[in-house]
Amino acid sequence: MDTTTELQQTINDMVDNTRGILAADESSPTIAKRFAAIKVESTAENRCHYRSVLLSTPDLGKYISGVILFEETLQQKSSGGVPLVKLASQQSIVPGIKVDKGKGPLPASPGDLITYGLDGLKERLQVYKAQGARFAKWREVYSISETNPTILGLTANAEMLARYAAVCQEAGIVPVVEPEVLMDGNHSIERCSEVTENVLHSVFHALHQHHICLEHMILKPNMIVPGISLRTAEPAEVARETLKVLRRTVPAAVPSINFLSGGQGPEEATRNLNAINQLAENAPWQLSISYGRALQQPALQAWQGKTENDAKAQQALLNRARLNSLARQGKYESE
Ligand code: 13P
Repeated sequence: MDTTTELQQTINDMVDNTRGILAADESSPTIAKRFAAIKVESTAENRCHYRSVLLSTPDLGKYISGVILFEETLQQKSSGGVPLVKLASQQSIVPGIKVDKGKGPLPASPGDLITYGLDGLKERLQVYKAQGARFAKWREVYSISETNPTILGLTANAEMLARYAAVCQEAGIVPVVEPEVLMDGNHSIERCSEVTENVLHSVFHALHQHHICLEHMILKPNMIVPGISLRTAEPAEVARETLKVLRRTVPAAVPSINFLSGGQGPEEATRNLNAINQLAENAPWQLSISYGRALQQPALQAWQGKTENDAKAQQALLNRARLNSLARQGKYESE
């Protein structure tokens, strides 16, 4: 299969009007933090067991079309000897891989961040592809302050996302492009709107310069919300601001926009997605999820690291996935 056909096939398998993506790609320090909250030690065995519980959830493929995995997971097998990648693909869930190597300060640009991992990416993608990954994810992170992100911050981060996306498409791997404007701080929703518009504008400019085929990528942005220490906004306001910014910046050729949850609670993230879809009549893109915490938090709470709770964790995950499937069709009603 040539890469264009391969990329289109992956988009066809991942994008429809009822399902979304599960982000289960927590890096080692992040999963350790999530496990610590339920007093579970982060060993390779525990991580493998927990993630195999998630991926073997009966009927998960009804609501989830793709899963983002961490490098380690690509090589792991369930206690029954089935590769975790296969647990996903058996349910028509496309396996993907987080390929960035985390973030740090952008030199000479106080307050801005930059993500690492481009060196050797081409070679790593060949390995991941052989292990079953068909799409990838790369996250650039922007903090909001009175002066950040700076013009340099915007340009440098956009360039990284575009270069990553180009390497992926060349390898026949669909890039999920994730520019995340953080919720941290006490900024207004208007300020989040202004910053996110600048971010997305710079990202699509760079994607164009690097000849990215927009039809063969997925955008994973933040919703437009006020800073977390300020207040929460009504879903209708989040929906209005989010759609305004997306309509101004995201070309219609992009097939799907899959939001991150970014610290929103599970219920809040579902309500906001529902409001967005209710207001989005005739939008050119699918508007769905790529939630990590907002899908997994209830499952982790139910699980508590105990095998006897595996089925409960699966029920909790399936329930959130089902509710978000309703929300992505604008059909969710608060419980
Ligand atoms: P959250 O939904 O928890 O923000 O995670 C999504 C993700 O993949 C962040 O990179």
